[in-house]
Amino acid sequence: MPIKFDKNTRQFHLYNDDFSYIIAVYDNGSIGQLYFGEPLSPNKDYPFLAPIPFAGFSNNIRSAARFEYPCYGRGDFRLPAFSVRLADGAGVVEPRFEDYRVYPGKNTIPGLPSTYTEGTDEAETLEITLLDKLSGLKIILSYTIFSAYACIARHTRFENTGKERIILESALSLSIDLPDSAWNMLTFTGSWAREFAVSDAPLRAGFQGVHSAFGVSGSIANPSLIFRRPETTEHRGEAFGLCLLYSGNFIACAEVDCWDITRIRTGINPETFSWILESGGSFDTPEAALGWSKSGLNGLSRVFHRLFRTHLESGVWRDRERPVLLNTWEGAYFNFTEEKLLAMARKAVDLGVEIFVLDDGWFGKREDETTSLGDWVPNRDKLPHGIAGLAEKITAMGLKFGLWIEPEMVSEKSHLFEAHPDWAVGVPGRTRTEMRRQFVLDMGRAEIVDYLFEAISSVISGAKISYIKWDMNRFITEPFSLALPPDRQGEFFHRYCLGVYSLYSRLTAAFPEILFESCASGGARFDAGILGFAPQGWLSDNTDAVQRLEIQRGASYFYPLNCIGAHVSTVPNHQTRRLTPLLFRAAASFFGDLGFELDPTKLSEEEAETIKECIVFYKKYRRLFQQGVFSRLDATADTAAWMVSSEDKKSAIVAVYKLNAKPNQKPFRVRLAGFDRAKVYHVSLWEPTHRAGLTFDETDKCLNCGLRGGDELTSCGLLIDNTSFAVSIIGDFYPELFLLEAAE
Ligand code: DGJ
Repeated sequence: MPIKFDKNTRQFHLYNDDFSYIIAVYDNGSIGQLYFGEPLSPNKDYPFLAPIPFAGFSNNIRSAARFEYPCYGRGDFRLPAFSVRLADGAGVVEPRFEDYRVYPGKNTIPGLPSTYTEGTDEAETLEITLLDKLSGLKIILSYTIFSAYACIARHTRFENTGKERIILESALSLSIDLPDSAWNMLTFTGSWAREFAVSDAPLRAGFQGVHSAFGVSGSIANPSLIFRRPETTEHRGEAFGLCLLYSGNFIACAEVDCWDITRIRTGINPETFSWILESGGSFDTPEAALGWSKSGLNGLSRVFHRLFRTHLESGVWRDRERPVLLNTWEGAYFNFTEEKLLAMARKAVDLGVEIFVLDDGWFGKREDETTSLGDWVPNRDKLPHGIAGLAEKITAMGLKFGLWIEPEMVSEKSHLFEAHPDWAVGVPGRTRTEMRRQFVLDMGRAEIVDYLFEAISSVISGAKISYIKWDMNRFITEPFSLALPPDRQGEFFHRYCLGVYSLYSRLTAAFPEILFESCASGGARFDAGILGFAPQGWLSDNTDAVQRLEIQRGASYFYPLNCIGAHVSTVPNHQTRRLTPLLFRAAASFFGDLGFELDPTKLSEEEAETIKECIVFYKKYRRLFQQGVFSRLDATADTAAWMVSSEDKKSAIVAVYKLNAKPNQKPFRVRLAGFDRAKVYHVSLWEPTHRAGLTFDETDKCLNCGLRGGDELTSCGLLIDNTSFAVSIIGDFYPELFLLEAAE
């Protein structure tokens, strides 16, 4: 029984073998955060963890108290978890403990993505009900503890049981107060083509954090934060992280107060939100997952990878190996004919590709970015036999066929805009901000979602389509809905997000066999909310392998490898003009869902042979790459390294990427992680990287290969010898892929 309530101390203890989370009902009926982290005995209570009693506050004594879902205006001067405006204009409520219930498993959240259980023994849920008697505002705090993970999923439900309207001015998903501030905070920030840059800095007094106001979660910051103790490394020490399952405007922030207590909060961005609760109405916040680890940042990533891969990704594709695809974007952009596509597809079959994806440019009069979004009918000049005819021919070659769509958008030059100019987001009388020559449809309106469901369904059902890439290429400006009354315009952004989720959930239910990949100008909506619908996402438009290593590494802190679309493109790279060897590009893309984004008819024979070899290798090990246990390894400033190993620790692949050739460097060791120290492993080099490799003696013998103990690999590691003569002739950008198999 992982949730206990002690009636005397009024403490709730949520626990499993790896984790404890303790909260209490304080004397005044508010809910306090007492502890979370390494498991504590469930057979004790922990009164000493509660703060000083609440009688007779000095001006800021409440700031020494630690709360679970703090409110505004009652002496806690830190930023609250929610705020309201009551009918009389007051913003003050006193939510007090009313009741609680514990139930096995976990419920879904209406209209929103959430983690789920498949058996009631996988998790237990605690719901604590608070009531503000005067207004009738009920707040239901929901906590699910999963039996197998050091993780809690939280969300909050508001119900107006009073007679008067209540306006929610902020309604966050999670707020938690820590007893100290000796933590480093990691954020994942960037922009288009440089998503998921990791910044890691000690917490300081005051407010700090990230947010989005784009209408999507955005590439400027991911809705996730990690906190590590200063001494915590990738492999050792305490860390926790929170990740919001939401694809709209968010905040994720920390506030260190005058008592050195740290309040961490995440949820819908209050700056762009308000919601009216009429009498009898309710509102559900998105879910936030809080994970904890004492095994460093890799340990924390494993908690989130396992949770998201098996309890958030859903549908038939959750456990299936993801196909190797060829996407036409960088290989053809808008410039293609059926003939050209068929030639590309023929070559793709030869290479071993499994799915051919036609990207932007197939519909309306689309020859560039300026027209036709919304007109989801094939461009007959380019495709005389339509999508159905093209798909027929491509599937006859033995490939699957996939298609790009951007349902949330409309071009000014389109039949859809002519017919429904009022469907595009904008404020009447004001000019719309220009972005990529397209407008956003008001996804908060049910009739627009209905229309899109029909339009996209007819494209999908009219042809042999196995995969959909759902793109979203502009942010939302002039937020305003013609369908909402003036006092509900604050609901615009959240309603937009709910509309997107509704379309996703209808399409994925109607076409359960289709693999959906999310995209928003690369990774601008690469978040755990969309992951609940689309089991993989296009991480970045930056296909330069050197930068991909950074971007994929950043994403790996929370997101499992099987949700990361990773494509090999041509050189000079289209984003950086950098030249990298094909093998290096492929070795970076192996750690994700491998794809290609180039014109295969332009490959030299040697390149085609290398790609074939890479695809054969990837297919052989793809379950390991996509579903294995991933670890970031320590290397040098000029080298990157990571690995995947099987859950049973019997096999692993280690990749060491040499980035920047320097002569006469000292050798170094890459120590492996997540291994069985007692096992003996047979170590070999993947043949193509052997040919290009670095760690040989004069007789071309791989120094690391042979039988090696798990203890030795973990404590001493693989030797990467940059001193070898080979370095001077190899130059920059070489990978070495080591294969490890446990000896019987
Ligand atoms: C942005 C995406 O990230 C690209 O992969 C491509 O699909 C283009 N949009 C097409 O317009």
